[in-house]
Parts: sequence; structure tokens; C-alpha cells
Amino acid sequence: MMVAVYDDEVMKISSFCPRHRLLALLLLSGLSWLTAAAQSAPRPNAQLASKPVNLRVDALLKQMTLDEKIGQLVQYAAGYATGPGASNLKYDELAARGQLGSMLNVTGAEATNHYQHLAVEKSRLHIPILFGQDVIHGHRTTFPVPLALAASWDPAAVETVARFGATEARADGIAWVFSPMVDIARDPRWGRIVESAGEDPYLGSALARAWVHGYQQDDLSRPDSAAVSVKHFAAYGAAIAGRDYNATDMSEITLRQVYLEPYRAAVEAGAATLMSSFNSINGIPATANPFTLTQVLRNEWGFDGFVVSDWGAVAELRNHSIGDGPTVARKALEAGVDMDMEGGLYSTVIAAQVRSGAIPESVVDEAVRRILRVKFALGLFDNPYTPAGPAYDATPERRAAARKVAEETFVLLKNDAAGAGPLLPLTAKAQKVALIGPLADAPAEMLGAWAVTGDPKYAVTLKTALAARLGDRLLYAKGCGLLSGEDANVLERASFTDQPVAAAELPIPDDEKTIAEAVETAKKADLVILALGESASWMEGEAASRAYLGFTGTQQKLLEAVSATGKPVILIVLAGRPLEIKWAAEHVPAILEAWSPGIEAGPALVDVLFGDVNPSGKLPSSLPRAVGQEPLYYAQLPTGRPAHGDLSHMPRNSAERFVSRYMDEDNAALYPFGWGLSYTRFRYGQPTISRGEVPRRELLASGHRPMVKVGIDVKNTGSVAGTEVVQLYIRNTAASVEQPVRELKGFIRVALAPGESKHVELPLGFDELSFYNVDLQRIVEPTTYKIWVGGSSLATAETSLTVTE
Ligand code: NOJ
Repeated sequence: MMVAVYDDEVMKISSFCPRHRLLALLLLSGLSWLTAAAQSAPRPNAQLASKPVNLRVDALLKQMTLDEKIGQLVQYAAGYATGPGASNLKYDELAARGQLGSMLNVTGAEATNHYQHLAVEKSRLHIPILFGQDVIHGHRTTFPVPLALAASWDPAAVETVARFGATEARADGIAWVFSPMVDIARDPRWGRIVESAGEDPYLGSALARAWVHGYQQDDLSRPDSAAVSVKHFAAYGAAIAGRDYNATDMSEITLRQVYLEPYRAAVEAGAATLMSSFNSINGIPATANPFTLTQVLRNEWGFDGFVVSDWGAVAELRNHSIGDGPTVARKALEAGVDMDMEGGLYSTVIAAQVRSGAIPESVVDEAVRRILRVKFALGLFDNPYTPAGPAYDATPERRAAARKVAEETFVLLKNDAAGAGPLLPLTAKAQKVALIGPLADAPAEMLGAWAVTGDPKYAVTLKTALAARLGDRLLYAKGCGLLSGEDANVLERASFTDQPVAAAELPIPDDEKTIAEAVETAKKADLVILALGESASWMEGEAASRAYLGFTGTQQKLLEAVSATGKPVILIVLAGRPLEIKWAAEHVPAILEAWSPGIEAGPALVDVLFGDVNPSGKLPSSLPRAVGQEPLYYAQLPTGRPAHGDLSHMPRNSAERFVSRYMDEDNAALYPFGWGLSYTRFRYGQPTISRGEVPRRELLASGHRPMVKVGIDVKNTGSVAGTEVVQLYIRNTAASVEQPVRELKGFIRVALAPGESKHVELPLGFDELSFYNVDLQRIVEPTTYKIWVGGSSLATAETSLTVTE
């Protein structure tokens, strides 16, 4: 029986190395423990834990020399650099020697096949190379940035983006995407907030699952699936002061309950790989951190995939002052970093330490095993090459998907009456529209921060799309650049690709004059659309922390000058982070948060501006009144001296003074988490609960099953169809460890025709109600939960649930 089962495996092993059939048989007979081990522990990715994959891995591993093993642990960028100090080794030779396990930034069938032929045909054991790349918000087809996607609160939209990304990446020879980034980001000074799902672990976890399913399709062997690399493990988003690459420092309860949650969700969804982060966590660098990389990830979560370091992060451990090169490489490897990305340290200092006995060879073997598992599961041994396909084109199908997704990501922050009714949507009547601003006609800027293989030539700007709609009723003036004169000359140096600096970024030498021209243009129109923000390629993403969060350059001057004309202004904010737009919120009647919308920016914006599509996005990240409020997020822990009421004035007595507040600004967000208006109105009924009480032991035994349902009627009381994101928040009122004043624990998008009402039910169970106690166990305790349901984190419709002994 055993032989029969294994015979198939022997054939598979023999097929990539026919001369070793006998050896394979011998090996397999001694490996029955593997099956038992894989079956006894819960393993989130069944393919990586499967017997066939592990049998093939072990059989191969037994044949490998130490140098070949270490070759699997290295990754080099033979293409462009996405970090400092790119190496320039002889990659052809390394590939042919079987010492090039992985490459990044090599794109296209021809380029990847070149190295793959060398690895598979010339190297002794024919092990294929795994090609990885930053496929973040689409690959060739550029979708909105991840923060924008989070504003859709639509896991299906995220899956769509991941599907397009994986399919297009595979066509380019890339079977491994460095996505999703699931770092919780609560501080928009940190430029990488653009790559995140924002501030909330519940929303972040839901979208993390969607990314993983979308890329991997629960089957890595499909030719259009790509393995994910969930990043950056861990707590990178909590970099102190919002400064990129900085240390993080927090309690283990917060680490687990907030920052690790989306990682847990991604691993449970079957994520094949993770990327370790640059930061340290409570004094231990994340890239040499046995607690996160081994205890939590492998021992607690049962992760069977591999961990790659971030770019050069193993070598950079020396800067953390935890040892010299050999020491930090050993620490990283032993902690659980299996692959060294563009650092060159594993390739130079591990072998000698294994030979001297400083590092047990079993540690190297385990890292190799994890990497080979992913290669086998992806089917790379059986299909290592990428067939040459047609050249990429932004086909109507791709454009339609990009447009539909973008339309879901826009958040209508404000829409005041201007004349008879709200300013938006624009009526098709004979209005003259002045389109003004440096982002109105800037194709490259529409692509966003991580459009590595995106091409500005496919991006349709707002100006192009509005011109198609309005013809000669559209007037246009750029008004100013994104930067002022003195900022300009740093751009060339800061660019990390060889792409030319986008025109929109360049300062206009005489802003005074161009702002005056824009004012004249505004005066000739019935209303003004202002497209302002920050530069996607220069101010968003990695190494793009900001100390100020306002509009860059002279855009604020432009905004104020145009507003002073008295013409109704619609402000479209194009940015990869929550900007500080307090002046605009006080003076501009309509504001649409549009992020970086991707190639269909213009058409999607026009659809929403004219009401062909009703905006439905909700903020995934609180918008501050002032940068001094950061990190600002709704799920604050309680204080003994909460501040209530209107804090916009100076305190008038000691009751107003000695509370947790700012002397010079309100505590509240300008626009809070979950916020977003529609062209229609939604009315919420009184929430009901299927059971008002649940015994604690029932909850503890329930696993992932919902135990109660919170029901609510939602009605569209307006005259146009719309989609509402119904949100459920809880507060635990009597916990042994204090819990946030509100936490999102459910949401659903509900489409409603005018006058239509729907009954919505949102489940609650152990997953939603549990928290970490002081012993770091995830538990529920007897308590009462307040529950609110509504259209933002300010929801007021309330019910409650009691957990009894
Ligand atoms: C560094 C970034 O932190 C990471 O997100 C990215 O995947 C790698 N470079 C590779 O480009």
C-alpha cells in the first residue's frame, strides 16, 4: 500500500532527475513521519503541507550540496533597484551553478526565461528560479492604490485587482508577488500608508484575506495563480513619529490585537510567503526576531511557507548594533528569515558557519525546505518557463475593471448646498466648468506609488475625460506645480526608477502669474473643479514620510485664490495619504477624496461627478484637523478624563481644562474613520439582536461560528439608487484589559434602489468579541458589549449583548 502511494511520488521526483529513481525510493521509504506530522497539526495552506510536495522536497534536499542549499536562500535584483546598493553579480553563472534561488525585478517572459533556462538546464539539480516582484495595485494594468481600495470596503473589488495582478504577472514570468501589505497604518506622516488598508485591524484582515484568495485562488498550481508575500512582518506601520524604517515599540497586547491581526488572517487564508520588515519591535529587529518569525508565525499559526527579508534588511541588521555580518546573518536565519533579499550576506557568511558548526546544517535545511515547498506547490518544477504572449495592451476589459473598481474607492467627504441643492452631482445642463490644478492633467500621477510596470501612456486624466463630456464648455488652467521652486532640484536624485520626473511635479517658475491666470479662468466659469494633492511618485510610498500634511508647493494659495472668486468649488483630493485639509473643509462646498485612482482616473471621476455612479467609498483612515493629532485613529483606548462636547474653543473652566484634549484643536478627526456621503440618504432602523445573552462557555467553544446576529433595517430615503457600507462597532464595557472605545466588528455593502429597504444581519462570535488578556490568551469574559450600527464610526443606532458566566 505504502509503495503504491509513493510510486506516484517517485515518478514525480524521477521526472526532474531520472537517474535518481532508486535513491528516491530509498528516501521515500524513510519519510512516513512527514505525513504524520503534516496531519497532526492544523496547517493553513494544505498544498504546502501536503505529502506529495513534502516528499519531493525532502528527496531533492538530500541531493543538495551546502552551496546549492545556500543558493536557494538568496535573491538578487537583476533589474532596476527598489532599494539602496543593488548588487551587480554575474547572474548567468550563478544560475547555471544552481546558486540563484530567486530573482526580483526581472520582468517579462524573455528576461525570466533567460535565467530560467540556465537554472533548469545547466544546473546540476535543475531547480527553477522563483521570480518575484512588487505587484501592488495591479501589474501592467494599474488600479487604485491599496489605501483607495480599502476605501471601497469591498473584498470583491480587492480580489478583482489581485486576479488581474496575478494573471498579468504570470504572463511576465513572475509567480510571486510582494503583496499584500497588511501593515496597520495609523499615522499618515508615514508615506507607506498608501500601501495599506488604513488604521483598522478588522477591515485590514478582511481585505488581507481577499488579497490572498485573489492572488493564490486557494490553488498555487494554477497557471494564473501567484504566491503572495505578505508584508512587512511585523508592525512596520507603527514606525515611531511616522518616519520610515524607524523602530516600533508597543505592548504585546497591542502588537497581537492590532498589528498582527491582518497577518494572522492572511496566514489563515493560506499565504505562501511573508516578508520581514526593516523596523525593530520592542528592541528586537523584525528581521532577526524569533518571537514573531518562529513562535507566532510557525508555532502558533502553523505557517509552512517561507519568509524573505526586505531589501538588504539582513545586512542592515549590522546598523541595529546586534552583531557583525556573520552574527546578524546567523541571527536572521535562526530566527526564521529563509531568504536574503538583495543583501548578499547569506551567500557570503553562512556556509563557513555551517562548516565550523556555528550554525547547524538542519537550520539551513529547514529554510531550503520551506522555499522548495513553495516552488513545488507553484508547479515551477513541472512548468518552469513562461510562454511568450501578446504584448500588453489596456484592453476594454481591463479598462472596464479598473474603472469600476476606481468608482468604488472615491469618498464624498462633503457636499453642501450651492443654490437649490447639493453641489454634486453636476447636472448635464449648459454649465461652463473650469478645471484647475496640477493634478487635473497629469497621467503619471494617476498611477500611484507602486505602479512599477504601469505605464502613464494608459492613464486617462480628468481633463481628457471631462473634455469628452463637456466639449468647449470645459476651461482649463494648471494653476501651479506640485512643488515650489526650491524643492524641484531634489527630484532627479530621489527618483528610484529611470522614469522621467512627471510634468505635474515640476514647479512653475512664476506661480503668482499662473495662479492669477487660474483665477481669471475660474471667473469665466459657472463652477470650478480643483484637482489638488501630492505627488504620487515623489511624496507617497516608501521613504516618503512627511512632517507636514497639507497640499504641497503653492497649491493652498491656488485653492484660496480660486475660492475667493466666489464660484462654487468642487475639490478633488488626489493623494496617497490622509492630507490635512481643514481650510478646504471650512471653505469649499464639495470635497471628493479620490486617492491615486489608476489608469481610469478620469472616466471614473467623471462618472461620479455627473452622478452616473453614486459614490459609496468610506474612509479607511481618519482625516486629521492638524498633523499634531497624529497618530489619529478612532479605536482609541479609554482615558480616565475623557473630553466631551465642543472642544473648538479654549477651556473656560477646570472641568473643560483638565481632560484629555488639545488646548488649540479639537480631538476629533476632521472626517472620521468610516465616513463617506452619498447622493442619496440612508435611514437606519433600531438594531435588534438575535440573543441578548450568551454564556461565555458557549462562545469559547464556538470556534469561528457566529453566535448572535445583529439585525437592522436600512432604507434608501432619497431619489437615486445608492450603495451604503453598513458598519457595526462594539465596545466591551467591563474587560480585564481595557478595550477601545469603539471597534469595527462587521460591515457589508448594501445596494438600495430609491425607496428600497433591506434587512441586514451582521454576525458576532468569538472572533469578533474576543481580546487578549494579560496572559496573552485570546479570550472572552463575562461583560456587556455596546453595539452600534450605522454608516460611519460615529454610528448611533444602539443595542447590546451580554456575555454571562
Ligand atoms: C523594499 C520595500 O520595503 C518592499 O515593500 C518591497 O517589496 C521590496 N523593497 C522589493 O522591492
